[in-house]
Amino acid sequence: MPRILGIETSCDETAAAVVADGTTILSNIIASQAASHAQYGGVFPEVASRMHIEVIYPVVQQALLDAHLGIGDIDAVAVTRGPGLPGSLVVGMNVAKGLAFGRNLPLIGVNHLEGHVYSLWLAEGAPAVQFPALILIVSGGHTELVLMTDHGQYQRLGGTLDDAAGEAFDKVGRLLGLPYPGGPSVENAAQPGDPAAFKFPRAWLEGTWDFSFSGLKTAVLYEVKQQHPGRPMQGEAPLDVAEVPNLAASFQAAIVDVLVGKTVAAAQQFKVAEIFVAGGVSANKTLKAEFERRAGVPVRVPPLILCTDNAAMIAAAGNFRYLAGQRDALDMDVIPNWRLA
Ligand code: KG4
Ligand code: ZN
Repeated sequence: MPRILGIETSCDETAAAVVADGTTILSNIIASQAASHAQYGGVFPEVASRMHIEVIYPVVQQALLDAHLGIGDIDAVAVTRGPGLPGSLVVGMNVAKGLAFGRNLPLIGVNHLEGHVYSLWLAEGAPAVQFPALILIVSGGHTELVLMTDHGQYQRLGGTLDDAAGEAFDKVGRLLGLPYPGGPSVENAAQPGDPAAFKFPRAWLEGTWDFSFSGLKTAVLYEVKQQHPGRPMQGEAPLDVAEVPNLAASFQAAIVDVLVGKTVAAAQQFKVAEIFVAGGVSANKTLKAEFERRAGVPVRVPPLILCTDNAAMIAAAGNFRYLAGQRDALDMDVIPNWRLA
């Protein structure tokens, strides 16, 4: 029963976790920087890497303390190698290398997206995953539709051509004068709104499994501008506050429609038994409800704490890689644009 220490610093969460056997979370520490980036309306890369440096050691220490383990009880160190912000990735990578070198532990570089996939194995009491599985990864940095045919075997069907789904939520949140991060703010603002109030465009990109959300974001911008011509937009509450719920609800309806529509179509074409949704945007209740209404097959969404960036998922993916014999050298470099497949 390997015990893997996972380390994750790809974006604005500094995280460390210990996972036993790829399935049992012994500890899961996440230090979020969200509050520090709020003033910039998005993640500020230089600030992110500095903050990782400040908290990474206490975060790793706390992960071991919570697991009631010392570093000597750990079988391997798994660390996010990419994709992510270069300066942020390097912080976790160097700490992982230091631990691996100092304690002569196996070092395993993990793809962050594979981490999101393996969050599925961490949900308590979750039934075994049936292959082929269709996985939609929707976060602030990624929108990827992936067919998983076996452990470690992925076929990338498509992904976003411009903004990631979470990024679109964040940008629209900003346009509507809502606090960062936009995902939860837009969802809250949308609650009393009418999703049919505005007919925002859906980019279906027929014949592909790709997504595009920049047109949708621009349509929201034009609507906001039309309501108040000549008003500066960015960073100010730009419009009639009374319209915010309708704009938020109509935007959310459009993005959810495309995410669910294309994923369900792929599920039918590839005859998958289940759909999995991972990444921060999977916290969205409208997205979950629409999946459940339209999927036709079971839809699994990990609990919120495992949906957003965390190191338990990196340790879980690392466990699979460890068992498969992967051992990385101490000169391993980060891969900021690393694709899953
Ligand atoms: O997976 P994650 O924590 O970090 C990345 O790898 O990017 O995802 C964060 C993203 C942000 O863009 C945030 O706005 C979005 O997930 N998000 C949501 C919700 N909660 C978080 N988007 C829509 N609805 C939500 N409830
Ligand atoms: Zn992520």
